Amino acid sequence: MATILAIETSCDETAVAIVKNRQVLSSIITSQISVHQEYGGVVPEVASRQHLETINQALAQAIESAQLDWGAIDGVAATCAPGLVGALLVGLTAAKTLAIVHQKPFIGVHHLEGHIYASYLSEPFLEPPFLCLLVSGGHTSLIYVKDCGVYEILGQTHDDAAGEAFDKVARLLGLGYPGGPAIDLLAAVGNPQAFPLPEGNISLPGGGYHPYDSSFSGLKTAVLRLVQKLQQRSGNQELPVCDIAASFQASVARSLTRRAIACALDYGLNTIAVGGGVAANSGLRKHLLAAASAHNLRVLFPPLKFCTDNAAMIGTAGADHLNRGHTSPLTLGVQSRLAITDVMQLYQDLRTTYSSS
Ligand code: KG4
Ligand code: ZN
Repeated sequence: MATILAIETSCDETAVAIVKNRQVLSSIITSQISVHQEYGGVVPEVASRQHLETINQALAQAIESAQLDWGAIDGVAATCAPGLVGALLVGLTAAKTLAIVHQKPFIGVHHLEGHIYASYLSEPFLEPPFLCLLVSGGHTSLIYVKDCGVYEILGQTHDDAAGEAFDKVARLLGLGYPGGPAIDLLAAVGNPQAFPLPEGNISLPGGGYHPYDSSFSGLKTAVLRLVQKLQQRSGNQELPVCDIAASFQASVARSLTRRAIACALDYGLNTIAVGGGVAANSGLRKHLLAAASAHNLRVLFPPLKFCTDNAAMIGTAGADHLNRGHTSPLTLGVQSRLAITDVMQLYQDLRTTYSSS
């Protein structure tokens, strides 16, 4: 039973949490959204500076609200890849420093593994194997979760990630950053059948479509053409933004649902755990739950506050690794890219270390 202090600073949230395995004892998430909003997206240099300004306060708040002292903490975890290098460095350096000062093991965590582990926060008894539909701002993948640290990618997007598509379409509609929550709100009062939009199929050389891979750039272009056509037709009249948002959201939800269900059935996996910011989307939640129940599949979503970036998910992944004896060397650096299939690179093999010395 590991109690972990975890730090997440890979993008635009400064987050610190204390978790006891899959139970959250405290979680502080300081969003930088208002700072980046004026630029229409995340500015890496601004993100790093903001993390620096916020991290110490977030650490103090997380420790105070968990009402624990360092004696009760078994390890310190931090996201080390993938993400913005300068932003990652702030969290990783803070975590290593705390690990050295308090003489605790240090555990580097892969950001996407954190998103996979977010589902354990709504269902602590979940165990692999299961399928994870990972839909964030930078990634869209179907991942076969075989064990802690053991992953196989079964499907992915060939271009934009689902969250990226939400952000780009929102910008097109003048809804600002981040786009997902804004589209979700408007879609709730729009007609999802107002405009037929493509589902982003990937053609296979021999004919037919790839069953698990997707594309969202064509959908984004289709929305752009639709907006241009509507503007030409109706001049200064207001765009039917709610109907466009609802039609776009329905198309993404259909596309992700169809692929996730096909993949789970083909691989005999009866649970689909969804992770990443787009897991908060109400259209996706509704569509996937309905389709899964028709096939007797179980779908799990993280609690809403743990869909987007947070440190509780990083701590939960870190605890599982520490429980298995996986710790990271203090020489571990940050990486802007690292495949989820390579997460075990972050850990030293204790048996090898000891037997060679
Ligand atoms: O997982 P996340 O916080 O950061 C990454 O690891 O990328 O995901 C952020 C993404 C953004 O693209 C944001 O627009 C999207 O998640 N998002 C949503 C919703 N809430 C956040 N997309 C659709 N519907 C939402 N309710
Ligand atoms: Zn994320």
